[in-house]
Amino acid sequence: MPATSSVTLNTGAVMPTVGLGTWKSQPGQVEHAVEFALKNGYKHIDTAAGYQNETEVGQGIKASGLPREQLFLTTKLDNPDQRNPAAALEASLKKLDTPYLDLWLMHWPAPMTRDGKADKGHDWLDTWKTMEDLYLAHPDKLKAIGVSNFSVEYLERLLAVARVVPAVNQIELHPSCPQDDVVEFCQKKGIVLTAYSPLGSDNSPLLKNETVTKIAQKYGVQPANVLISLQANKPMRTVLPKSVTNERILNNAKIVDLTTEEINELHAIDKTHHFRACHPSWTGFGGIGFPDCK
Ligand code: A2P
Repeated sequence: MPATSSVTLNTGAVMPTVGLGTWKSQPGQVEHAVEFALKNGYKHIDTAAGYQNETEVGQGIKASGLPREQLFLTTKLDNPDQRNPAAALEASLKKLDTPYLDLWLMHWPAPMTRDGKADKGHDWLDTWKTMEDLYLAHPDKLKAIGVSNFSVEYLERLLAVARVVPAVNQIELHPSCPQDDVVEFCQKKGIVLTAYSPLGSDNSPLLKNETVTKIAQKYGVQPANVLISLQANKPMRTVLPKSVTNERILNNAKIVDLTTEEINELHAIDKTHHFRACHPSWTGFGGIGFPDCK
């Protein structure tokens, strides 16, 4: 299918396909990146309490002058806040200086302590129940809720009791981490997938991969555009290229329609070059149900 420019969530809300990612975007750089992106056509910004840049992201949004209702803004509940989502939501709204979030995600199904250890005395499913309560009680503050870094196994556990089906599951997706099982499952359940680290994160080998560079040459675009376009060419998929560099922020918004053969060729990269930029084991909960992390 041709690339999309937006997708519709299970709430009926419209989410622009390409958003600016801000994982690893430092305070001091991210304000400008957000402002520049919004002044140059982006309408979707993704951040997280855990990135420790929400205040600066909020400053960038204000500086851009973009009316709030024209922006799709996502942030995430940090792992150490799983025991108190209500306070964490208020803190995020304050830092971002916004009355509401378009999307609030549980960052990981992995409650943690403030000193970075697994908090095994708390169940992430209870966190989800509280997020649902907040969403149902405060439609003025939360337009949608969802999850991030959820495997099929964890989604099945959640959906067995959920009152609200997550609008989105944000996971790592690129040719070396296609996660077909999660993709198929989410599509069946009407859950939009958002691709983080679509380029493979910092110093990615994918930018030099010969399949990627060959397709880039054909379309006269950069390798990054092929990797971002791959995600935008999938149904029910949004994508978050991260950059703090003006020229790249501008460039990354350029999407091309790929052929089915090209998509299949890019897909085949995983067979010989699999990697994750972000392995879930850092949370202290092992592979959290992802088959390639066992
Ligand atoms: P920077 O932020 O310094 O511009 P991902 O989106 O997969 O997380 O990848 C982010 C990484 O890719 C960052 O190191 C970012 O650098 C870099 N990057 C972003 N856009 C491009 C591009 N068009 N070409 C090359 N590298 C890029």
